[in-house]
Amino acid sequence: MKRDLHALISQMTLEEKASLCSGASFWFTKPIDRLGIPAVMMTDGPHGLRKQSTNADHLGINDSVVAVCFPAACATASSFDTELMTKLGETLGNECQAEDISILLGPAVNIKRSPLCGRNFEYMSEDPYLTGQLATAYINGVQSQHVGTSIKHFAANNQEFNRMSCSSEVSERALREIYLSGFEQAVKAAQPKTVMCSYNKINGTYASENEWLLTKVLRDDWGFKGYVVTDWGAVSDRVKGIQAGLDLEMPASNGINDAKIVDAVKQGHLDERVLDCTVERLLQVLYSYVDNRNPHAVFDRDADHRTAVEMAAECAVLLENNGILPLHKNTKAAYIGSFAATPRYQGGGSSHINPSKVTSALETAQTKGRDITFVPAFSAEKDALLDHGLEDAVAAAKEAQVAVIFAGLPDSFESEGYDRKHMDLPAAQNELIAAVAAVQPNTIVVLHNGSPVVCPWANQVAAILEMYLGGQGVGEACDQLLWGEANPCGRLAETFPLRLQDTPCYLNFPGDGKKVHYAEDVYVGYRYYDSKEIPVRWAFGHGMSYTSFAYSNLTLSSSDLDDTSTLTVHVDVTNTGAVAGKEVVQLYVHDLTHTANRPYKELKGFSKVFLQPGETKTVTLQLTARDFSYWAEDLGDWFTPSGSYQILIGHASDEILLTEPIQFTTKKLLPLNISMSTTMGELLKDPRTAPVIQQMLAETSSGAAGNMMNSEDPSTRAMAQAMFFGLPLKSLASFGMTTPEQLNNLISALNQVLQ
Ligand code: BGC
Repeated sequence: MKRDLHALISQMTLEEKASLCSGASFWFTKPIDRLGIPAVMMTDGPHGLRKQSTNADHLGINDSVVAVCFPAACATASSFDTELMTKLGETLGNECQAEDISILLGPAVNIKRSPLCGRNFEYMSEDPYLTGQLATAYINGVQSQHVGTSIKHFAANNQEFNRMSCSSEVSERALREIYLSGFEQAVKAAQPKTVMCSYNKINGTYASENEWLLTKVLRDDWGFKGYVVTDWGAVSDRVKGIQAGLDLEMPASNGINDAKIVDAVKQGHLDERVLDCTVERLLQVLYSYVDNRNPHAVFDRDADHRTAVEMAAECAVLLENNGILPLHKNTKAAYIGSFAATPRYQGGGSSHINPSKVTSALETAQTKGRDITFVPAFSAEKDALLDHGLEDAVAAAKEAQVAVIFAGLPDSFESEGYDRKHMDLPAAQNELIAAVAAVQPNTIVVLHNGSPVVCPWANQVAAILEMYLGGQGVGEACDQLLWGEANPCGRLAETFPLRLQDTPCYLNFPGDGKKVHYAEDVYVGYRYYDSKEIPVRWAFGHGMSYTSFAYSNLTLSSSDLDDTSTLTVHVDVTNTGAVAGKEVVQLYVHDLTHTANRPYKELKGFSKVFLQPGETKTVTLQLTARDFSYWAEDLGDWFTPSGSYQILIGHASDEILLTEPIQFTTKKLLPLNISMSTTMGELLKDPRTAPVIQQMLAETSSGAAGNMMNSEDPSTRAMAQAMFFGLPLKSLASFGMTTPEQLNNLISALNQVLQ
C-alpha cells in the first residue's frame, strides 16, 4: 500500500509533529488518533524478545513475557555463519510479528576494544568486517518479516564505565576503519529501519547531537534511509539533536522536549522543514510495519527452542583437544561444577530474556542415560567453593574415566552498566581445575562466559570447549558436542590474550571518566597482536573440529587490480578426516606497499562450508579496491596505494596456509599542499612533483650538500640522502642547495605541476 505521507504531514499541527519525536512510554511511540496514526511497540533485543507489559523498566529488572533466549552475540559471532544469522533474524522477526512488536532493538555491533567491556557478551567481534557481515545477515532476516531493527549503539560506545557522558577520543581513521565500519556495511547492504545512537560523546560531542555522525557519515556518505532513535535517555540538547539528524527520543521526556521543538520552530531557530523530514522518516518506518502485519504469525516456543539448541551447537568453539573429545558413548564421566546443572546462558541488563525453558548439560546427559556422576563443587553465583567441593570433585574425577568441569563467570562478573576489572575466572574455579587436572589427565573444561578469561591451566587439561553465553539450549548443545552428536565448528571472533596487560588499550581503558583516549588507534584485537608479534592464548579465527581440512589450489582471477575492478579468489578445501564437519575459510589482506602505518593483516572475506569426509569444495570470495584500502585523513576518503599486496588464506589468523601476491594500481592521488614545511621526501614520493625535485638535484650536484649526496663513501651518501628526505623547502637555502630566487622558482614549478 502506497501512502501519501506528505499529504498526511500537511494535515498535522506543529505540536502533533513534535509529539511524534518522542515516545509515549517506555516502549511505545505516540499515536495521533485524529489522523489515524497508531502507536507501535519496540522491544529489546538482540538475542530474544524482552517484551515487557506493565511496570516497564529498561534494565531487565521487571520480568518480560516468556520468550526464547538464543545464544548471545559473543556466541553467534563465533559461528562465522551468515546463514545462521539470517535464520536467527527470521525467527526473531516472526516472533515479533506474533507479539506485535514493530522494532527489535538490535543488533548490537560495537567493537570489542577491550575484553573488559561489561557488555562484550552482547557485541560481536573485535573485527569490523566480520561484524558488518553478520549484522547485515541478521538485519535482513528480521526485516524479511517486515519488522524493523535498530542497529546499536552508534557509535564508539566500547565500555560501560561512564557510558552516558564519557567522550571517546578517536581519530577519524580509527572510527572509519574500526568503529564505524560494521555499521557502514550493514547500513549500505541491509538498510536497518532505525539506528540507535549511543549515550557517549565522540570527540567531545554527544552522539545524539553529532551532525557529523548522524548526517554527514550516516546519511550523506552511507545513504541511510531510516530514522535515528536515541539509546534510552540519551538526549542531550533536543533541538540540536533534531538539527543534527536525531529523529526519535526514547523513552519520553513528559512532553518537555517536544515543547522545546515547538518553541524552536516558533522562534525561528529550527526550520519546520527539518522537522517535516524527521516526521516523514518516522512515519515511513512506522507504516512499513503497520501495513505489513502478519496476523498468522505464531510464536512457537518449542520449535524456537530447538532452533536455539541447533544454533548453540554451531557457535561453540573447541579451543583445545588432545583427542579426548568426542567422548565414547560408554565413557564414565564426572561432571563437576554448578554450571553443569544451572548453565550461565545469558548476560545481565537490557538484553535479559525470560526463557521458556533452560536445559542443562547434566539433565540432558541423564535423559540420554549417560554414565555420569555430578559434583557441584563451586558456587555459580560467587567466587566460592562449596563445602567439601574440592575434595569431592577430586575424588569423583579419580573414580571416573574423564572429568568435565563446567566453569564460567558468575552473572555479577559481567553485565551491562559496568566493566570487568580483570579477566580472571573466580579463583575458586581456577584452583579446582588445577586440582582436578592433577589427578585426572582426561580433564575437559567447558566455559560459560561472555568475554575472554585468562586460563592459567590451559596446558594442563585435555580439552577446552568454549560455549560462551549460548542461550537457553546451551546444555543440550554442549551434550551433543561433548559426545560427538555434533561436530564443533565455531571460530573465535575475538582474541584470547594471555594476560590483560597484553591488550592493546591496557593503558587507556576505560579512561578517567570524562575522556577515553583510543591511543591504540586502528590496532585493535589481532591487528595489534599480529603487528607486534605478541603471543596470545588463542588467536582470532581459531577453532578446532573433530575432523581435519586441507587447502589447495588458491587462484586469483588476475594478478593485478585497480580502482574499479573486482578480484575473484578461488580456493579448494577438502575434509581429510573421518567425520563430516564445517570449515571456516578465512581471507586476510596484507599490505606490502608500506605507504601508511597499517596492521599486518585484515580479514576481508570468509566462508563456512560443510564437507563430508573426503569431499572437496571450491570456495569463491571477491575483493575490490575498498578491501585493500585504508582511510586517508588528508584525502577524507578511502585510499588504496599502488603497489604489492598479498592474499592470505587460512584456517585462522595465526594459521595461514596459502598466499598469493597481487599488484594494485590506483589513479587516485593523495592531496599535496606545498608549504615551506613540505619535505623533499614528500615531494619525491608524489609522482607529480618527483621529476621537479630530481631535476633540481641534477642541477645541484655541486656544493656541500651535492658533494655529500654524491660521496663515494656509502655511509656518507646514505646519511646525506636520509637528511635530504627530511629537508623542508624552507631549509634548502641553509644547505646551499638553492638561492632565495631559485627557491621561489622551485615553489612555482611545484605548484604548477600540482594544478
Ligand atoms: C541499552 C540499549 C537498550 C535500551 C532499551 C539501554 O540502556 O543501552 O541497548 O536497547 O536500554 O532497553
